[in-house]
Parts: sequence; structure tokens; C-alpha cells
Amino acid sequence: MDISIQQLIQFYQLLPHPEGGYYKETYRSSERIPADSLSEKFNGERNYSTAIYFLLEKNSFSAFHRIQSDECWHFYTGDAVDIHVLHTNGNYELIKLGSNIEMGEQYQAIVPAGAWFASKTNGQYSLVGCTVSPGFDFADFELAKASALILQYPNQEKLIKHFCRS
Ligand code: GUN
Repeated sequence: MDISIQQLIQFYQLLPHPEGGYYKETYRSSERIPADSLSEKFNGERNYSTAIYFLLEKNSFSAFHRIQSDECWHFYTGDAVDIHVLHTNGNYELIKLGSNIEMGEQYQAIVPAGAWFASKTNGQYSLVGCTVSPGFDFADFELAKASALILQYPNQEKLIKHFCRS
């Protein structure tokens, strides 16, 4: 692993994420939204909001998964990230998160709640941020199984096989 990537992991005390990549939660609001004020897709109370650092390195990827909140991605440093989004209406979207705005890259992008998404750095590594509200909870996190996702998005079989681990 490149030395600067190791330094980032040590400095920010990043941990391996089940979807791939490394992360560190940097914010979790102290206040909570009661369960009866949330839609039924949430199985209990949730923090108002959470934020993480997320690091993707070459030779790895974040596998297709979905969560129950909109997720706002922020580009910080390193190479651009490709975020592959399979929307609930069946559409595919490629978001390029990065600093080269002339190449169509965005500093900030939204992945809507319920969409399946996978991501990969375009170079050595990418350091980004992900903010969600209602706050992140692993109860709202689901890793995709390739076979089930292909039934739902048959035109994206190649992409799904590439970005699933099971
Ligand atoms: N906290 C732990 N995992 C995640 C994640 O995938 N996204 C966000 N926003 N927060 C997290």
C-alpha cells in the first residue's frame, strides 16, 4: 500500500468498511429523531445526521449496497471517484466525484435513499466524505447479492458482476 494511503489511514484512524474502502465516523448528532416521527422503513429512532471520512484505494472498490437515507458525497483529495448508481426507477447514473469541473466532475453529489450504488477511485486513492440524514445505522445498510440485483437490472449484468462480492 502506498505510504500516503497508510498515513491517511493512521492519521484519521480509518477502519475497513464492510462494503470495501476505509472509513471513520466524524460526526453523529447528539439529538435523535423518535421512531414514530420517521417513515416505517426505519426500525427505530435515528440520530438527526452523521458524517464519515471514506477512503478508496486502487485495487479495491465499494460494492453495490443501499441505505435508507439520501447520502451526500463530498470530494476532499486524491483522484476522482466513479459512483455507479442504480436508481429505484431502473435508470443507471454515473457520478464523477472530483475537482476537475471541466471534465464534468462534481465536488458534491447526492445518492438518493434506496438506490443501489458502488464506487471506485480512478487513480491511487480518493478521500471523500459522506453525510446522511436521518443518521447512518447499520440496520439501514444492505449489501447487494449479484444474482438478485441482475434480476432487477438485467441491462447492468456486467457492471453488477464487477462490483459485487457475493
Ligand atoms: N457510517 C458507517 N458506514 C457508513 C456509510 O456507508 N455511510 C455513511 N454515511 N455513514 C456510515
